[in-house]
Amino acid sequence: MLAGTATTAPGIRHILSAQQFDRPRLEALFRAARSMETVLEQGRGDDRLRGRLLATLFYEPSTRTRLSFESAMLRLGGQVISTENARDFSSAIKGESLEDSVRIVSGYADAIVLRHPEEGAAARAARVSPVPILNGGDGAGEHPTQSLLDLYTIERELGRVDGLRVVMVGDLANGRTVHSLARLLTAFDGVRVTLAAPAAVRMRPEVLAALRTGGVEVVETDDLAKSVVEADVVYQTRLQRERLGDGDAATAAARLAERFRITPQVMATLAPRTIVLHPLPRVGEIDPAVDGDPRAAYFRQARNGVAVRMALLAELLG
Ligand code: NCD
Repeated sequence: MLAGTATTAPGIRHILSAQQFDRPRLEALFRAARSMETVLEQGRGDDRLRGRLLATLFYEPSTRTRLSFESAMLRLGGQVISTENARDFSSAIKGESLEDSVRIVSGYADAIVLRHPEEGAAARAARVSPVPILNGGDGAGEHPTQSLLDLYTIERELGRVDGLRVVMVGDLANGRTVHSLARLLTAFDGVRVTLAAPAAVRMRPEVLAALRTGGVEVVETDDLAKSVVEADVVYQTRLQRERLGDGDAATAAARLAERFRITPQVMATLAPRTIVLHPLPRVGEIDPAVDGDPRAAYFRQARNGVAVRMALLAELLG
């Protein structure tokens, strides 16, 4: 289901997994995102999606993903209908199935961005939706559009992806953004990935396998200090407390806080061209004292979300 471009009706394209993006598609998307940046800089927006309507259906909290999708749609002259807390404020509370909700909303809009706490929810939605489903995060599964903006940021900041050394840090078991980013990195040559995490939240075996099958050299470690020294990209993540049991969360959190925090002392050991990324929100794993360092690229990364999502929406709905 996830491999290739899933279709439920002729011409309908969903975005469910980072696996759907090969290198030519990524390069085309990045060229489009770059031209969307120009549209944004000119401050006038565009009207290529005039008359098109996007629904954002979110069963989990979000700031960046929902608002940047909505901003992207509006900047292209489209319109948006939104439910930001669908778990409590939609008919889900009355027991309506995800499939039924998607069938209904797909009758109201031309595409649906869906965020849901269950892994596989976007694929389930795609099976019943006659309009494109964009996976805005399915539990601990994937978050493909976030990883597209992560990769775009890497390319934008460093000028290439081939040959880079990327260190992923934090809750690699439950963080969906790293699951998607890892899959995207397999489209490039000579990438080396170091996975720095406490044992309790190590990278999932299937993502490790995808990296290795995709030709990426992978090292696992629980030594942040050693792994970041040679990095081009340090990709920090937060502990996904909502997906861990209380005991596990407490142990992993203590470990992360103690050994995996990015502080000015850690920054002092990084190379001058290294960038630090984080999908955000952060909850202590990057010291705010780091924010003023030009290598701290996470706010620029969040901003890139609009241009990348404009490019995606134009591709799907234009
Ligand atoms: C991420 C998510 O929701 O998975 N946030 C985001 O979309 N920028 C990361 C997170 O919540 O930790």
